[in-house]
Amino acid sequence: MTDHWTELELLDEPSDDEVLGARAGDRALVAVRHQGAWRVFADRCTHAECAFTDYAEVVAEDGVIVCNCHGAEFRLADGSVALEPAEIPLTLLEVRERDDRLEVRLD
Ligand code: FES
Repeated sequence: MTDHWTELELLDEPSDDEVLGARAGDRALVAVRHQGAWRVFADRCTHAECAFTDYAEVVAEDGVIVCNCHGAEFRLADGSVALEPAEIPLTLLEVRERDDRLEVRLD
């Protein structure tokens, strides 16, 4: 069986409830550490493809990431849409920690 885990490189200093740029292979990603768990997804809003790293912020008390391009909100727990105009949920990548490094499953 092929191992599809890929190392996740954080482009910003790790900090809770911040939108952190990240990269795995050639994929531009976002990583958010919320309530001790990592959420990783593509750096593109599903509404009109604005980059979360340019436009988004985390509202920790609501458990959402807000895309300030047009105001869509997504739940960090499962990527579902909390507020339109986005209609398509975020696809959260599977994440694991190994030897103090993060890895994601890209497929
Ligand atoms: S691109 Fe994110 S809300 Fe429109």
